[in-house]
Amino acid sequence: MFLEVKNITKDFPVESGVFRRESGVVKALDNVSFSLGEFETLGIVGESGSGKTTLAKIIMKLLPATSGDICFDASRIGNLRKDVQIIFQNPYNSLDPKMRILDAIAEPLIIHRICPGKMIKKTVTGLLGMVGLDESALYRLPREFSGGERQRICIARVLAVEPKCIILDEPVSSLDLTIQAKLLDLFMDLKKKFNLTYIFVSHNLAVVKNITDFVLVMKDGRIVEQGRTADIFREPGREYTKMLLEAAKVEG
Ligand SMILES: Nc1ncnc2c1ncn2[C@@H]1O[C@H](COP(=O)(O)OP(=O)(O)OP(=O)(O)O)[C@@H](O)[C@H]1O
Ligand SMILES: [Mg+2]
Repeated sequence: MFLEVKNITKDFPVESGVFRRESGVVKALDNVSFSLGEFETLGIVGESGSGKTTLAKIIMKLLPATSGDICFDASRIGNLRKDVQIIFQNPYNSLDPKMRILDAIAEPLIIHRICPGKMIKKTVTGLLGMVGLDESALYRLPREFSGGERQRICIARVLAVEPKCIILDEPVSSLDLTIQAKLLDLFMDLKKKFNLTYIFVSHNLAVVKNITDFVLVMKDGRIVEQGRTADIFREPGREYTKMLLEAAKVEG
């Protein structure tokens, strides 16, 4: 398996009172297990606070789990920092406001020694082209772009390191509908072009139905249901999933 997530639990300490003593825990994840094959797209859905972002961060090892294991196929993922990338909802926070786009995209190329110094400008221009921007972006700052364009810049920056897997945590939720549709098309084109594996966190069940192969339905840190997207949307097994689908008015 490309990725095996085994019995992941995450407790966050809760502090309270004037002495800020630890007074309990929030169980953000409770015994979460699933596996994902290479080149597949896994959707993660569930209400706000159900643990989706926490799970994404633990998979990326940006956050330690309280218990459980994350195992990537070692023959495919040699360097987690390079091979697995994440794109967050708010593209503004992911870019240094004082860094020109050329430098922002060059940074991972330099850190991971992807290309020689004299090729950097050409490589960055090529990456911008892949996400539908051109070289007029090179010397501008993040604030000079729209939200959709900034997210494209984040995508170019992530593609720079030639990842195998990208975790998309609500990557289009902050954008207007037409821009969302264009970016989703871009994600699907890039997936084909670069043989990517995706984990796609979203509140938008219609999108999850369209672009994912498998889906996890989460509630209060647990997986309430998981399986093939087509099966779950046709015949949800759990009341909670039915309720989510009804609330979103997505037909099976
Ligand atoms: N650093 C933290 N310290 C304490 N509690 C946290 C921390 N990060 C997350 N939590 C708690 O863990 C739970 C899961 O949060 P998480 O951000 O993973 O939810 P989510 O499913 O991504 O929600 P949303 O859809 O709103 O993004 C929530 O109860 C949240 O308050
Ligand atoms: Mg989240």
